[in-house]
Amino acid sequence: MKFFVDTADTAEIADLAATGLLDGVTTNPTLIAKAGRDFLEVTAEICKLTDGPVSAEVVALDHAGMLREAEILRKIADNVCIKVPLTIDGLKTCKALTGEGTMVNVTLCFSAAQALLAAKAGATFVSPFVGRHDDNGFDGMALIDDIRLIYDNYDYRTQILVASIRHGIHVLESARIGADVITAPPAVIKGLFRHVLTEKGIEGFLADWAKTGQSIG
Ligand code: E4P
Repeated sequence: MKFFVDTADTAEIADLAATGLLDGVTTNPTLIAKAGRDFLEVTAEICKLTDGPVSAEVVALDHAGMLREAEILRKIADNVCIKVPLTIDGLKTCKALTGEGTMVNVTLCFSAAQALLAAKAGATFVSPFVGRHDDNGFDGMALIDDIRLIYDNYDYRTQILVASIRHGIHVLESARIGADVITAPPAVIKGLFRHVLTEKGIEGFLADWAKTGQSIG
């Protein structure tokens, strides 16, 4: 399973990239606003921090406007992946862009039927939002299960990119189901490294090491 980080914070992206686990980055207008940086400038910087896909979202709602914005965004770098909403115009844009060899992430997916449409439009990635699904009384991970089943039934190549991840269990369940990618905030990814017994183990080893009076090097 690929790991993307869901942020426009370049320091966080660089930090995770150094661990070798980072396969790509997703951003959205909210994350760009949070970073307080120029959209095109920060996207160009992020594209240099990873070789993987970097999702940059259009804000136009009509097909022509989305294509105009995508034209500007895809010139930033070869690894830019255009993010479009799961609407009729979004899927028209998806079809046009993937037909030209541009990666497309279809975002704001909340049903398996929507995911089926994204696959038929040739999406590179579909982003079901599990956290927001849970927040509204639905079962986010059941949605991933359904999409996996449907995509496998018809051998669709669209990658399931589990988004709106809130905690490590979402990551673990995504791997169990066989999702292709997860995108999570830096804090959630960093939380996966931690275990109370790892910390306790380090503490114990250091205490015993101190008793030896030795140092390495
Ligand atoms: C995905 O690409 C989105 O940017 C993101 O995962 C949304 O997450 P949120 O529901 O925490 O805003």
